[in-house]
Amino acid sequence: MLQSKSLSLLVALLSVLSIETQGQVAPQTIALSSRVAPRGSSLKRRALSPSTVPLADFFLGTDLQWFGNISVGTPPQLVTVVFDTGSSSLEFASTLCGQACAAQVQFDSTKSSSFVDTGRTSSITFSTGVGVDPVIGANYKLTLRSGQDTVSVGGLKATNVNLFLITNQTPKFDIDPFSGIQGMSCMGATAQGFFAALISQGLPSLFSMYLTPKAVGKAELTIGGTDSTKFTGTPIFASLPAGSGNTWRLSSPKLSVNGKTTSLLSTQRTIIFDSGTSNILFPTTTTEAIYALISPDIKANPNEPGTYGIACNRISSLPAVIDITFTSQAGKPFNLTIPSSELSVGPFANDPSTCQTLINAFDGLSLVGGSVLKHYYSIWDVGAQRLGFAPAVGV
Ligand SMILES: *[C@@H]1O[C@H](CO)[C@@H](O)[C@H](O)[C@H]1NC(C)=O
Ligand SMILES: *[C@@H]1O[C@H](CO)[C@@H](O)[C@H](O)[C@H]1NC(C)=O
Repeated sequence: MLQSKSLSLLVALLSVLSIETQGQVAPQTIALSSRVAPRGSSLKRRALSPSTVPLADFFLGTDLQWFGNISVGTPPQLVTVVFDTGSSSLEFASTLCGQACAAQVQFDSTKSSSFVDTGRTSSITFSTGVGVDPVIGANYKLTLRSGQDTVSVGGLKATNVNLFLITNQTPKFDIDPFSGIQGMSCMGATAQGFFAALISQGLPSLFSMYLTPKAVGKAELTIGGTDSTKFTGTPIFASLPAGSGNTWRLSSPKLSVNGKTTSLLSTQRTIIFDSGTSNILFPTTTTEAIYALISPDIKANPNEPGTYGIACNRISSLPAVIDITFTSQAGKPFNLTIPSSELSVGPFANDPSTCQTLINAFDGLSLVGGSVLKHYYSIWDVGAQRLGFAPAVGV
């Protein structure tokens, strides 16, 4: 059940992303209540100071997503959103959604004097062949209506931000403890979203994420800078490959499992970084090559195409350290390492003695999410088109 959640979200994010690349959607960013990053940190100060907003962990046996508060409208209404580097637009439940969004806090556009109804309707249907909870037909679907309003994150405010009101949704969204998604794709100042508006007001064009496991807590997003109290050492940066567009991704020459690799795993691949999902996706052959180095008893689950599992009573003793190698801007290899503790994402709903393993097969895509990001402090540098990582404090 919980994977289905994260996977469905993932697919949602990808869907949003694809809509965006068709040029139909304007970018947006950011949200939450806030506090300003500590003075004396190595932030370049320009017209706007960075702002840090706390994030809550959506946890169902494993860390699924991190979400925080933004405010929308005049007077401001509180809206909770996932900060999703895998998508670009802002959408959230609204009173137009009525009973279908009864489980979510709903934004009431009639109570906002700054709301503009731009009147375009659209929908996002989430579909995929993978997931513990299978996507059947259009059982993950959001219906949207476009608008504009003032959006702020702490003291940082932008006006006339393009956004979408959710006017209907399928029941699969009922378990979300948040109202929407704030896309954080790699959009520059020329784009039309919240983050872009702040960049054009002089905010440095980067943000940073501290996505911690639930036991560590204190997760946060810093817009416009970094919070040097949340990492140690000097971050290592890697450049986004040319042609990445809005997509946060890096080129990786090698995957290793428990220090071993294979020729297939040593093939260059491009990996997307998606803060809006907890799962990891690789093409089927790659996924099976990784599992072969962990245990021959990790098997595909025929009931849930794309997923794999092994007896729960064996999973915690399996060494499964996965090193994903990247190349720094200085030309040196560095690894992002997924510890063995991430291997199990919990029992399958239809077979509770079998635990699902971390990676799902998804042909045509390599993607990592929270299960990697939560072991690092990550710096998403839009302006310099690079991603940075440093050891996270307390993780
Ligand atoms: C969002 O705001 C509400 C109301 O002020 C607060 O109770 C909640 O803790 C905030 N959530 C986060 C993640 O900061
Ligand atoms: C990255 O991981 C591989 C496989 O475990 C290891 O051989 C290599 O030394 C690591 N590289 C660095 C820079 O730590």
